[in-house]
Amino acid sequence: MGITSNDAAPRAVLLRFLFLLCIGCKCLASEVEATQTATLAVDASPQLARKIPDTLFGIFFEINHAGAGGIWAELVSNRGFEAGGLHTPSNIDPWSIIGDDSSVFVETDRTSCFSRNIVALRMEVLCDNCPTGGVGVYNPGFWGMNIEEGKVYNLVMFVKSPETTDLTVSLTSSNGLQNLASATVTVSGESNWIKVEQKLVAKGTNRTSRLQITTNKKGVVWFDQVSLMPEDTYKGHGFRTELISMILDLKPRFLRFPGGCFVEGGWLRNAFRWRESIGPWEERPGHFGDVWHYWTDDGLGYYEFLQLAEDLGTEPIWVFNNGVSHNDEVDTVAIAPFVKDVLDSIEFARGSANSTWGSVRAAMGHPEPFPVKYVAIGNEDCGKKFYRGNYLKFYNAIRQAYPDIQMISNCDGSSTPLDHPADLYDFHVYNDSKTLFNMKSTFDRTSRSGPKAFVSEYAVWRGDAGRGSLLASLAEAAFLTGLEKNSDIVSMASYAPLFVNDNDQTLVHAAFHSLHCFLLCSCRPNIVVRGEAT
Ligand SMILES: *[C@@H]1O[C@H](CO)[C@@H](O)[C@H](O)[C@H]1NC(C)=O
Ligand SMILES: *[C@@H]1O[C@H](CO)[C@@H](O)[C@H](O)[C@H]1NC(C)=O
Ligand SMILES: *[C@@H]1O[C@H](CO)[C@@H](O)[C@H](O)[C@H]1NC(C)=O
Repeated sequence: MGITSNDAAPRAVLLRFLFLLCIGCKCLASEVEATQTATLAVDASPQLARKIPDTLFGIFFEINHAGAGGIWAELVSNRGFEAGGLHTPSNIDPWSIIGDDSSVFVETDRTSCFSRNIVALRMEVLCDNCPTGGVGVYNPGFWGMNIEEGKVYNLVMFVKSPETTDLTVSLTSSNGLQNLASATVTVSGESNWIKVEQKLVAKGTNRTSRLQITTNKKGVVWFDQVSLMPEDTYKGHGFRTELISMILDLKPRFLRFPGGCFVEGGWLRNAFRWRESIGPWEERPGHFGDVWHYWTDDGLGYYEFLQLAEDLGTEPIWVFNNGVSHNDEVDTVAIAPFVKDVLDSIEFARGSANSTWGSVRAAMGHPEPFPVKYVAIGNEDCGKKFYRGNYLKFYNAIRQAYPDIQMISNCDGSSTPLDHPADLYDFHVYNDSKTLFNMKSTFDRTSRSGPKAFVSEYAVWRGDAGRGSLLASLAEAAFLTGLEKNSDIVSMASYAPLFVNDNDQTLVHAAFHSLHCFLLCSCRPNIVVRGEAT
């Protein structure tokens, strides 16, 4: 953790805050009644001092296309044509066709060179004299690609063309009329798949652009794993620089990933699988997240999350599936392979470069281990039938192999002690502003011994939150003061969700700004001030 706060700054910030508060009250008061005054009594005595843990405020990552179509810079959606499922013909959405039935026939088949994502796109050009501009396919990305003048975009695609063909790859406006970048790639006739790499430099800007691949040549061409990434990503690691800079401003002390319910899945077969999200991106199968209802190509996978935590200078918190989803569960008697799978995931992060899984990490470009010190055993699964049984299997195996790793239980220990061992426990709250405001005293009553609280998801939601409101922000801020006040037993807290893509507001109550304010004041006072307005 690179950030140390000096002692003078907190007080200065605090005083400025109180000053602004007074000004604010006066303005407000003068409108209501000129003579009304407010007194704020501040007890800053040393015996009330409480050391705020270094880890207190962090971020939780999930949902609303926060990854795919969000912080991950990949511009192509459904790059491997797998989103429509394994049964062909399949839906190629959001890909679409340039040309009509008489000029081009496009379908999926199962001829990819990648065994874990076997679906490929087959395009048969029927026209001898094709329309001007040719026929082909286009991908509009996630609600349009933001192509910016002067920027460089790296196109990578896998192509199979038995006959020599010229392919035109271009970036155009959504109606195809404005050409922002274009290049012609000659694919020499081959019965094998070849990898095509092409740089495109944008000569204009359009926020709702698309990627087109067209040709005038009659014949058959197959495509698979079509990727378009801006050349400029944060540290070259694939993340959007402007969004990363917003996160850096928050100075998060930890990154809880990859979810949330994303970890569980509606059904286990749709849960996040770390092993299918590592290795070369073109070999990743991708998966349908059935809780938030969208496909992800898993370009942002387990490795990239660990890399993100490192790039942010923050503690990674790996939330893994413990054999429980929203609708089905693995019986504890059959949980052993899942335990082994999770031990492998920790070896992938922490093992030396010559360990089985550490060597896979090293091959991906990171020989040094990622220092994972926290793992969460599931998400919101405390009440499930096999949770405790499975939990103990994971807990004991990890404790034995990695004695230093802090483990997080899904069971709330804020009012009654846990009936199982844990270092921390999750505490989640989504409610109206009044309830959250009153919950500022929740942890006042919590036992001072036992595992610490990780308030890993909190927010005012629904009517009070709307698309962000002052009321919600104030209630959340009040709740946070309660966490700071009790930071001897509350170790960590993160708002949910971190990002909302305007086009996917499955879970919206974003009060990014209240959090932003709170985290920016990472020169947080080391003294908790109790105030009382009279
Ligand atoms: C982007 O393209 C759309 C048509 O798809 C057009 O209406 C719009 O004016 C273009 N924007 C710019 C900035 O050129
Ligand atoms: C793995 O590498 C470490 C140093 O990085 C070394 O100490 C250890 O002996 C190696 N183990 C094997 C099995 O090669
Ligand atoms: C707040 O929490 C209570 C108790 O869990 C619940 O009954 C109520 O529906 C919640 N309100 C909102 C707006 O979520």
